[in-house]
Parts: sequence; C-alpha cells; structure tokens
Amino acid sequence: MKSLTTTELRALFLRFFGERGHTIIPSASLIPENDPTVLFTTAGMHPLMPYLMGAAHPAGVRLADVQKCVRTGDIDEVGDASHLTFFEMLGNFSFGDYFKDDAIAWAWELVTKEFGLPKDRLAVTVFHNDDEAYNIWKKVAGLPDDRIIRIATKDNFWQMGDTGPCGPCSEIFYDHGPEVWGGLPGTPEEDGDRWIEIWNLVFDQFEDLPDGSRIPLKQKCIDTGMGLERLAVVVQDVDSIFDVDTIQALRNKVCEISGKEYDKDHETDVSIRLITDHIRSATFMISDGIMPTNEGRGYVLRRLIRRAARHGRKLGIDGAFLAELSKTVISESKDGYPELEEKKEFILNVLNKE
Ligand code: SER
Repeated sequence: MKSLTTTELRALFLRFFGERGHTIIPSASLIPENDPTVLFTTAGMHPLMPYLMGAAHPAGVRLADVQKCVRTGDIDEVGDASHLTFFEMLGNFSFGDYFKDDAIAWAWELVTKEFGLPKDRLAVTVFHNDDEAYNIWKKVAGLPDDRIIRIATKDNFWQMGDTGPCGPCSEIFYDHGPEVWGGLPGTPEEDGDRWIEIWNLVFDQFEDLPDGSRIPLKQKCIDTGMGLERLAVVVQDVDSIFDVDTIQALRNKVCEISGKEYDKDHETDVSIRLITDHIRSATFMISDGIMPTNEGRGYVLRRLIRRAARHGRKLGIDGAFLAELSKTVISESKDGYPELEEKKEFILNVLNKE
C-alpha cells in the first residue's frame, strides 16, 4: 500500500481520469442549483443529474470531479468515530459514452495499481441479476467467486430519491482485517466495521418518473462516487476519519486551543470530533455564500456553529475560537479549493460575528 496524503489522493484521482479522456470539472456549490427539493449537494452526481438524463454537458461526455458534499441526516451521530456532515466525493462520469467495461476496469486499476491496495483485502458486490457486471469483474479482477457478491437489495440499486436517474450498482469493499468485528456484504455481520465500502459504481440505465413509473434512459451512463476521507483512512492505514492527515491537523488544533488531549476520555473525544466536523462544514458552507439565519440551510449552518461553540465551552475554551480553527480548514483544503483562501476574510468575519 502506498502512503498518500489526502491532497495527493485527490490529485491522483483527477490525473488518472484526465489521462483517460475525462474533462476535470470544478466542484459545484454546496447549494444545489438544479434541485429545489433538498438543502445541500449530497453526492457527486447530484449537480450532474440533468446530464445523466440526456442534457448535453458543455464540458463533454466524460467528466471527473471532486464534489463537496454535506449530509445532515446523521447529524446527531456526529461525534463518534465515523460520521461526518461534510465530505468530499471523488467521481467519474460517462454520459452515453463508456459503460460497465471501462468503469470497472479503471476502478480496479486505480485501486490496486495507483493506490496499491492488496487484492486479497478487496471484495465487490453486484446487483443480484447483473451477470454482465459479474463477468466483467471476474475477467478484470480475477477475484474468487466468494469475493464477487450478488446482492438483491436496494444497497445495490442506486436511486437519488423518488425520481431521476437510477440503476444497478457495484461496490468495492476493503477489509480492515480480522481484528475488527464485521463480515462481508450480505452476511449477518455486514454492519460491522471490518468490510467498508470505498467506491460505488452506478450503471445508470433507467429514470424514475414522478408518477411512479420507470423508463429506460435515452443513454446508458456511469456515475461513480468514492468518499475521499474514507479512502484516506484505508490508504493512510489509520483507525478513523479523524486520524487522516488533513482532519487530524484540525483535530490537533482543537486540542491545542482547548488544552485537551485526544484519545484519553470518551466525552472529551466526542466534543473534539464534533467541533472538528462542524467547523469543516461551516467553513465550506460560508465559502459558498450560505449565511447563518433562522431558516433552511442558513439555520443548519447556525446550528452547526452553535453546537461547535457549545462543545468548545464544554472543553473549557473561553471566547471565540471557531475562526481560528477555520484558518486550519482553509490551509488544509486550499489546494483542492482555492476559493477558500480567496474568501478567507469573509469566512472568518461571518464566524466571528455569529
Ligand atoms: N451516486 C452514487 C453515490 O452517491 C455514486 O456516486 O454513492
């Protein structure tokens, strides 16, 4: 396994797909442009939905990006070792261009050759009746039959919501080793932390319509999504997302400001992790023009800032400290998101005022 920083992983992913004919597009805003039904951009494919459904994208039919995402559905879980409200999703997309053959072959090449993950720690899933994907995995990866697992549930049929592009998907799982409790997908122990999904390859073939019917898409498409932070846990061989390089730098800053040590006391760790997560979300939200208010996404931002401030008090921090932490978010992420540096003063002002 190679040791790569988060910044290197992001760049490597984009270079890999750039070399394979993909146009690299910048992350879209966290404020969804094409979808008034949700508050935040929640997946790499989210801003690209119209193009998956047939509209012509100005940058072409093969794209790759790293998309900023916010998911607040699990906000009450944040503080444990695995939940984040802000994360980055690496993705490659084909709009009626390549399909399963190339998507699977490139994913395997990237994961095993470029990231250097050992084949014996990998398993994949396919939708139960997707013989085509099964056979491609067999040919490309040469995995034994018990490592290409057929799953009949919606875990292997991707839908964004009730409407829009959808199709069977195939996921790549990484084995964190027998010392961690858990089992292969499809087994009773699948919810454990041993086998963790790192990449979801979606083969968009259908569109769900508002009347509940499902029609074939005009063109077959590929939408893949790989969580950068989760990938970094694997490649950097650390215990949790709070130990990967960029997030650890922020976590250390929380410890420095509060004078607390990480990994000594459960309650303290919960507060350190919660602040670490929430200040990342808040920094990126403000850089996209979201302001703390009393409704909608502004209310979510206000709640994140206030919860982080409250946990700061719990750690014994006096006075405003979130702007100081935000400087670390900006310095750790500005290679991928230069707009953070450009809007630094504005972001720090909003945090200080709130
Ligand atoms: N749409 C899929 C996901 O969000 C793959 O990008 O997981």
